[in-house]
Amino acid sequence: MLHGLDFYMYKQIGILTGGGDAPGLNAAIRAVVRTAVGEFGMSCIGIEDSFEGILGETHTVKLTTRSVSGLLPRGGTILGTRNRGSFVKMVDGKPNFPQMPISEALANLDILGIEALVVIGGEGTLAIAEEFHKRGFPVIGVPKTIDNDLAATELTFGFMTAIDIATEALDRLHTTAASHDRVMILEVMGRNTGWIALHAGLAGSADIILIPEIPFSLESIAKKVESRERSGSRFTNIVVAEGALEVGKSELYQDQKEMRLGGIGVSITSRIEELTRKESRCVVLGHLQRGGSPNAFDRMLGTNFGACAVRALASGEKGKMVALQAGTVVTVPLSEACTNIKTVQVDGQLVRTARDIGISFAAPKEAKHGESSLYESRSNGVK
Ligand code: F6P
Repeated sequence: MLHGLDFYMYKQIGILTGGGDAPGLNAAIRAVVRTAVGEFGMSCIGIEDSFEGILGETHTVKLTTRSVSGLLPRGGTILGTRNRGSFVKMVDGKPNFPQMPISEALANLDILGIEALVVIGGEGTLAIAEEFHKRGFPVIGVPKTIDNDLAATELTFGFMTAIDIATEALDRLHTTAASHDRVMILEVMGRNTGWIALHAGLAGSADIILIPEIPFSLESIAKKVESRERSGSRFTNIVVAEGALEVGKSELYQDQKEMRLGGIGVSITSRIEELTRKESRCVVLGHLQRGGSPNAFDRMLGTNFGACAVRALASGEKGKMVALQAGTVVTVPLSEACTNIKTVQVDGQLVRTARDIGISFAAPKEAKHGESSLYESRSNGVK
């Protein structure tokens, strides 16, 4: 397997995508195939429907430079994906990885002649990938999530496209809000972190941003709406992350059993209307943030991650994930990649900038400057 002194030559590698889809997945697949086949002369097998494709009657597809032609701008993943399945079960409302069928998967990889894996996914998928590594199978992870909440990497592809879509939605809501003198509430994704809401809120000129890291009060929202009214702005745009919390309350789920967040936007709309006596409307952006073509940045990042993942495999690295750090792609241990979630720093630069330009986070007793001590913060301990 050792080819020359400089790199390992796997004859055939496998690639799969897991978790929620994200714009840029196909760009990463294309880059993996072009690098593996074109640069290193390996064969590439696409494993369909995440790890499910290597269980039971396996379902895989041979990938060639020709078969990935034209993929760069395409949304979704040509390999299919799953964010539940045989490896992840919901137990008592929490994702659980009971008795993963690793032995069966390893036996099938052997039958298929796949000697190493490139696994593209978020926290859950990469945690499964780590189990393969622990069993001695060569794996390199590629991070993916529109939420941008993996601590080991500064950015994940999909995030910038999601912000573009949420920003455009805010731009569009602006004109209808202003025309009707309404409060418009846009609910965005982001699970337990407020990155999409914060970035899109800044780029799309939201007046109030509600994120999980800064619990909000309805009274503070009403005060901001009223102060805008007094200064002549008779409409207000609010962006709320799906995991945002009202002080003293917990997250809202559209499906508690499956732990699918959602409903916060609708739940605050009527209460804001009651408090402010202004007509209010809610828009849930949902999966529009994940579907469709990746923007230029996500095509570039997906491509760079994909190519770097294959180079890492070829240079003998195992059990690592490619990550963007200080603008360069590096590799970090998979274990590091899975354990730490990156939350918005409540006293960080972007939050401060937002406040300085007059955006409210509707924290109780929100003050103009140095307010971080005035609100409760919720953080997973990672900067
Ligand atoms: O992880 C990305 C994400 O978009 C979350 O923000 C969201 O809660 C979740 O996926 C929803 O995914 P699905 O509808 O596929 O279960």
